[in-house]
Amino acid sequence: MTASNYIRFFDTTLRDGEQSPGATLTSQEKLEIARQLTRLGVDIIESGFAAASPDDLKAIQMISRDSGTLEGIAQWTDEALTPPTICSLSRAHERDIDKAWEAVQYAEKPRIHTFIATSPIHMEYKLQMDPEEVIDRAVKMVKHAKSMCKDIEFSPEDAGRSDPEFLYLILGEVIKAGATTLNIPDTVGYRTPEEFGALIRGIKENTPGIENAIISTHCHDDLGLATANTLAGVQNGARQVEVTINGIGERAGNTSLEEVVMALRTRKPFYDMEYGIVTEQIMRTSRMVSQYTSMVVPPNKAIVGANAFAHEAGIHQDGMLKNEETYEIMRPESVGLTESNLVLGKHSGRHALKMRLEELGFTVGDDKLKEVFARFKRLADKKKTVTDLDLEALVVEEKQRPTEIFSLKDIQVVSGTLGMPTATIRLEGPDGTMHVNAAMGTGPVDAAYKAIDQVVALPIELLEYTVNGVTEGIDALGEVTVRIDVDATQVASSIPQKMSPQSGAKTNLTFNGFSAHTDIIVASARAYVVALNKALAALGLYGIEKPAEKETA
Ligand code: KIV
Ligand code: ZN
Repeated sequence: MTASNYIRFFDTTLRDGEQSPGATLTSQEKLEIARQLTRLGVDIIESGFAAASPDDLKAIQMISRDSGTLEGIAQWTDEALTPPTICSLSRAHERDIDKAWEAVQYAEKPRIHTFIATSPIHMEYKLQMDPEEVIDRAVKMVKHAKSMCKDIEFSPEDAGRSDPEFLYLILGEVIKAGATTLNIPDTVGYRTPEEFGALIRGIKENTPGIENAIISTHCHDDLGLATANTLAGVQNGARQVEVTINGIGERAGNTSLEEVVMALRTRKPFYDMEYGIVTEQIMRTSRMVSQYTSMVVPPNKAIVGANAFAHEAGIHQDGMLKNEETYEIMRPESVGLTESNLVLGKHSGRHALKMRLEELGFTVGDDKLKEVFARFKRLADKKKTVTDLDLEALVVEEKQRPTEIFSLKDIQVVSGTLGMPTATIRLEGPDGTMHVNAAMGTGPVDAAYKAIDQVVALPIELLEYTVNGVTEGIDALGEVTVRIDVDATQVASSIPQKMSPQSGAKTNLTFNGFSAHTDIIVASARAYVVALNKALAALGLYGIEKPAEKETA
C-alpha cells in the first residue's frame, strides 16, 4: 500500500513540455526519453496527446508497449524499478478518448487523462457552454473512458481561475463517474502559493468522495511561481505533482521536476514526504531532454543550470574549502553531477562503444553506430580524454539528422581583426550537386550562415544561437544549438519549383538543430544545416514526406 505521504511524480515533458515552440520530438527520441524517465523513477509518464496526430499516437503506443519490458526499465541503479503508468491526454470528446485508449492499451499500467475547462472565461468564450453542460460532458466522458480503462485522471482546465464551489461540484460528479485522480491546473500561472494551497485545501475539505481519489497539482510558471505553488499544493493535501524536466512547457513552462524533488529531499524534515525519484539521474535526464528538444538550459537554472553548483566569488571559494556546507545546501553528486569519467580510449573498439552507449541509455542502430564510431575515433585522436558527456553529444548529433537533404562537406573561414570575416562552404544538394559558395559576414559564423543561406534559399529568421562547452578544457567539444523560424507562406514564392505548404498549415514554423565538434565554427554550420534540413523535410520539400499536422491541448 502506498504511504499517505508518498508524492507521485507525473511527468508531462513529452506532452505539455513538447508543446514548447520548436521542441518537437521524433517517436524514437520520445521512447528514449521515456526510458530515461523510467530510470529516473517517475510514477506516471504522460507520453503525448494521442488524438493530436498519427505520430503522437504511434509514439505513445511504442512507449506503452515498451513500458513493461526489461529494456524499458533497464537497470541503471540498484533501485528496484517498477514500470511507470503510461498516460495519454484527451479532450472531453469521445473520439479523443478512444484514441487515447488506442494508444495506452498496451501499457502494463495504462491511464487516460481527460480535461474540460471550468473557468467562467473559458466556458463562455472558448467552449460556449453553460456550467451544467460542462458537468454533463465531463461526467459522460469520464464514464466513457472508465468503460475501457480503470485508471482515469480528470482535469478542470484553468482551475486556478475557476469558482471553487463549481470545482467541488464537478469534481464530486466525476469521482462518482469513475475518476481516480483529480488534477488541478493553474493553466495560466496566475495563482500565488497561498491561494493555490488554499484551493487544494478547499477541494480536499469540500469535494464529496475526495477520500477515494488523489489530488494532483499542475502549475505553469508565468509568474515564476510554479514550484512554490506546487509545493504549497503538496502541503495542503496534493499527492501527485505534474512536472516537466527543465521546466519546459507552454509559454514560461511548467513546474520543474528537479526543483520539486530536490526541495522535498533537501528540506525533508520540513516537508516530510516520500517519493520514488532517483535524484542521481536528474542531470542525465536534463541533458537528454535539452539536447533532443534543443531547449538550452539557462546557466543559472536551479538544480540543472551549468552554474547551479559553481562557486565563483573568492569569499565563497574560501568558505567551500573550509566546509562545503558554508555555501552548498545540496551535494552535486545527489543530482548526478560527478566528475566526467574517462570512458573509452582511442584503441577501444566498436563493440565497447556500443555497450557504453547502451549503458548511457542510447539505442543506436548499426548505421548511426558506424558514424558515431568514426567520429569517436577522430575525437579520441584530438582530445586527451573522451568522456560520457562527449559520447552523449556525438550520439545526439547523429540522431538529430534523420534526413540529410543538404549535406555540409567542408567549411573554411577566415576571420580576425584584418578585413571582413569570410566563409567558404561545400554543400551537397539533394540531387548530388556540389555547391561551393563564399560569403562575408560580421563574424565567421554569420559569414558561414550567409554562405549556406545563399544555397538553400529558405525564408528564415535565426531565433537563437547558443554555444556551450561539453566538458572543461581548451580541447573540449563545443555544442551548438540553433533555433530557426521559417515563414512557410513565403516558401512557395522563394522556391517556385517546389511544393507550397498545404493550406491550413501554420505559417510560422520553428525548427532546431544541434551539433558538437571541437571546432565551434564547424559545429555552428552543421547545427544550422540540421535545422534547415528539418524545415525542408517538414515543409514537404524535396520529395520528403511531410509529417501530419498536429493539434495542441
Ligand atoms: O495547463 C493545463 O491546463 C493543461 C491541462 C490540459 C491539464 O495542460
Ligand atoms: Zn499545462
